[in-house]
Parts: sequence; structure tokens; C-alpha cells
Amino acid sequence: MLAAASAAALAQPQPAGLEACTACHGPGGNSLTPAIPSIAGQPRVFIENQLVLIREGLRDVPAMKAVMGGLNDAEIVALATHYAAQAVVVPPGAVDAEKRRLGAEVSKRALCSTCHLPGYTGQNQVPRLAGQHEAYLLPTMKMYRDRPDPGRDTAMSAALYGLSDADLANLAHYLATTK
Ligand code: HEC
Ligand code: HEC
Repeated sequence: MLAAASAAALAQPQPAGLEACTACHGPGGNSLTPAIPSIAGQPRVFIENQLVLIREGLRDVPAMKAVMGGLNDAEIVALATHYAAQAVVVPPGAVDAEKRRLGAEVSKRALCSTCHLPGYTGQNQVPRLAGQHEAYLLPTMKMYRDRPDPGRDTAMSAALYGLSDADLANLAHYLATTK
């Protein structure tokens, strides 16, 4: 017999827009495209905030313009709740132990886990970094450091200030290969 909770989950209608999201962000929000971020297991508040910013054009994601235009606040909350509850699947890939060691050192020195939490699972408006695609993390960190896009949090630019390209590459590898 089905447990009450999973029966209720089965009865839930699929959030509006979900199929469009899956086309880019992958099944369950685990992206199969390295340049597109995974959104599985991101904090609900982070997803909600970003979707509102993207819908209002405050964070410019041209790829999402068409799909976000038609979504109201309740639909955004439903999508955020759905993706926050999805299990994270870390894509298999080569692990470079030396890069990981160096990345962990930079992270410790720059106090990344004070906001992103030890384990880099994120919280509230702060995103999960553990298991995110390296090919998304690296250009995103360069953007924060060098020329933050409109709508992006200046706390992140401050956190990355003064770090070298090598530091960012080591950080990206470390975070992407953290489960
Ligand atoms: C045509 C492809 C495409 C579609 C469709 C799409 N996205 Fe995106 N999405 C992207 C890309 C590309 C980015 C990253 C842009 C960047 O580099 O800043 C992104 C970013 C995001 C982010 C921010 C993630 C982060 O870590 O900063 C969230 C949340 C998100 N999308 C959710 C959704 C949801 C929910 C849907 C369905 C309603 C959706 N997306 C549909 C391509 C897409
Ligand atoms: C003061 C709190 C704080 C600190 C310290 C901090 N972050 Fe962040 N970080 C944030 C917030 C908040 C966001 C969401 C930013 C936004 O909305 O633009 C973020 C976003 C990010 C993103 C984008 C992820 C995504 O999915 O789009 C990356 C990558 C990142 N941080 C890496 C780091 C690294 C590496 C460090 C340490 C060098 C660090 N952060 C330190 C608060 C912080």
C-alpha cells in the first residue's frame, strides 16, 4: 500500500512549465548540459528569488525569457518547491586530487562556507554549490569577480575580490566534485 505522503505526491498536479524546464535543466533538475546549471536540491528561497529576478528581467537570462513570461507567483513557488525537493545527481567526471586540495584551501581562506554552509548545500537565498557543473561555476565566478551582471549579489563580488584565475579554477573543480 502507498504511504499517505507518496499518495499525496502522486495526486499533486505537475507544476506548470515543468516540461520546458526539463528540456534545459535536465530530468529532476540535474542538468545534462555542462554550461546550464543544475537546479535539483537548490534551496527553495534561492530558486524563487532567481525566478522572480529572471521573470522581471533584473537578472538577464535570454534563454528563459519565453518560458518565464507566462508564469505567475504561485507557479514560481510550485516550481521552486518541486526542484528544492529533487535529489542531486553529481555527474561522473575525472577528479584531480591536487586541484581539489588547492580549491579547498582557497575556500577555507575566503570563508565561502560561512554563507554557502559547510558541505556547500546552500541555505535560504544562498545557492548550493556542491555537485554543480564546473563549466557553469567557473564563468559565473569570473562574472561576479570581474563584471557583475545586473541583479547579482554584490556580497559575491566581495567574496571573490582579489582571487586569481587559478584560484577560481581550483574552486570550481573542488565544488563541482563535492558530493
Ligand atoms: C532554453 C533553456 C532554458 C529553459 C527552457 C529554462 N532555463 Fe533556467 N536557465 C537556463 C540557463 C542557460 C541558465 C543560466 C544562465 C546564466 O548563466 O546566468 C538558467 C538559470 C536558471 C536558474 C538560476 C540557477 C542558478 O544556479 O543561478 C534557475 C533557478 C532556473 N534557470 C530555473 C528554471 C526553471 C524553473 C525553468 C522552467 C520554468 C527554466 N529554468 C527554464 C536555461 C534555461
Ligand atoms: C556573504 C555571503 C557569501 C559568501 C561569503 C560567499 N557567497 Fe557565494 N553566493 C552568495 C549569495 C547570496 C549568492 C546568490 C547571488 C545572487 O543572487 O547573485 C551566491 C552565489 C554564488 C555562486 C553562483 C551559484 C549559482 O548557482 O548561480 C557561486 C559559484 C558562489 N556563490 C561561489 C562562492 C565561493 C567560491 C565563495 C568563497 C570564495 C562564496 N561564494 C562566498 C553568498 C555568499
